[in-house]
Amino acid sequence: MKLVLLLGLMLLSSQVTTRRHHPREMKKKGRDPASRAPVASSPKDFAFDLYRTLASIAPGQNVFFSPVSVTISLAMLCLGSRAHTKAEILEGLGIHLHQRSEDQLHEGFRQLLLELSHPREGFQLTLGNALFTDPIIAIQDSFVRAMKTLYLAEPFPVSFTDPAAAMKQINDYVAKQTNGKIVDLIQNLDSTHFMVIVNYIFFKAKWETSFSIKNTQEQNFYVTPETVVRVPMMSRIDQFDYFQDQNLACRVVGVPYQGNATALFILPNQGKMEQLENGLNGSTLRKWLRMLTKRELRLYLPKFSIEGSYQLEKILPRLGISEVFSSFADLSGITNHSHTQVSEMVHKAKADVDEAGTTAAAATGIVFTFRSAHLNPPRIVFNRPFLMLILKNMNILFLGKVSRP
Ligand SMILES: *[C@@H]1O[C@H](CO)[C@@H](O)[C@H](O)[C@H]1NC(C)=O
Ligand SMILES: *[C@@H]1O[C@H](CO)[C@@H](O)[C@H](O)[C@H]1NC(C)=O
Ligand SMILES: *[C@@H]1O[C@H](CO)[C@@H](O)[C@H](O)[C@H]1NC(C)=O
Repeated sequence: MKLVLLLGLMLLSSQVTTRRHHPREMKKKGRDPASRAPVASSPKDFAFDLYRTLASIAPGQNVFFSPVSVTISLAMLCLGSRAHTKAEILEGLGIHLHQRSEDQLHEGFRQLLLELSHPREGFQLTLGNALFTDPIIAIQDSFVRAMKTLYLAEPFPVSFTDPAAAMKQINDYVAKQTNGKIVDLIQNLDSTHFMVIVNYIFFKAKWETSFSIKNTQEQNFYVTPETVVRVPMMSRIDQFDYFQDQNLACRVVGVPYQGNATALFILPNQGKMEQLENGLNGSTLRKWLRMLTKRELRLYLPKFSIEGSYQLEKILPRLGISEVFSSFADLSGITNHSHTQVSEMVHKAKADVDEAGTTAAAATGIVFTFRSAHLNPPRIVFNRPFLMLILKNMNILFLGKVSRP
């Protein structure tokens, strides 16, 4: 099934901002995402601005990315850049250093990387960084040290005089780190390159309660009211977190994963997708999380796989981050060589959604009792374009739009 999923999103910078102030809330129990209300928004809402940019430059195409990973990549660039180049990155991310020192900022990212990389039963989130540099370029020790300690990244020597071998080395590394899920990350290299920064994220989780495969049936999905495709539609009656947003003309359903992650599926009313997309911001999300309440529903949801792959050096300039990718870049935190710039910033993200997540899901799933099946609970059918948002603890991991299965 071909899917247009637009985005994997994470309000990373805001999460880093708030965590110091609410350390206890991180530990809160309870499966209700509302009780874990996260993410103060930065005024700039970098994640949603990036979403809207990606969606607008690729109308009708699959879009999927992880804002946390993009934000971490930019923070690493921030480490090595100076002067206006650095200021532009911070500004683009909506990070204001008068609130805390740059050391605290990078330490916040370290904490987040550790927290997200922590392995959990039934839940896979692989998130990592790598720095590939040509040994003929002398790299500042301070930069390499900070990359290792703060961003858990290892620098790898690579000779760009043999671009094909360099490409293979980088792509093999990424494939290995993502269990073969992400291959051929880098497509174009030549001998003018001296450095490649790679960030990867891979997410896979089991539903807390799986969908029964025998309930999955082919059904219509209305790409537009006139364009219909057939999709494998999962269904389940359960108590779901639910909220009807009158303002944005949409309904929000929460489906929990194992490992303290939750997916939010957002179904706009017919013809209201654009209004919903334009209304996406940190306050909207916080409102949804606050307002979700348990409600018995018969949920119909297509199964799908999504991925996205981006050359961010071409996209981030639209969000005001351009100097680092230009001949004016000040990367003196990385090397004393002049005339250096970041040649590529590649990002690839992938997720799979199906009945179980994996075959072992039932073992730890909570068994659901159809105690009021006779009441014929209200149906919510995701048979037209919808948004998807994945939360883990206080973090928003992904946000996607399924518009063309
Ligand atoms: C870069 O220049 C600084 C200041 O001149 C010097 O201390 C440092 O060792 C140089 N680094 C490299 C890698 O050449
Ligand atoms: C989920 O979070 C709760 C509370 O923070 C914790 O006790 C529990 O171990 C977590 N479960 C998993 C699978 O990580
Ligand atoms: C967020 O979006 C909502 C809905 O469109 C809007 O009412 C609100 O003013 C926005 N908030 C911010 C801070 O932009």
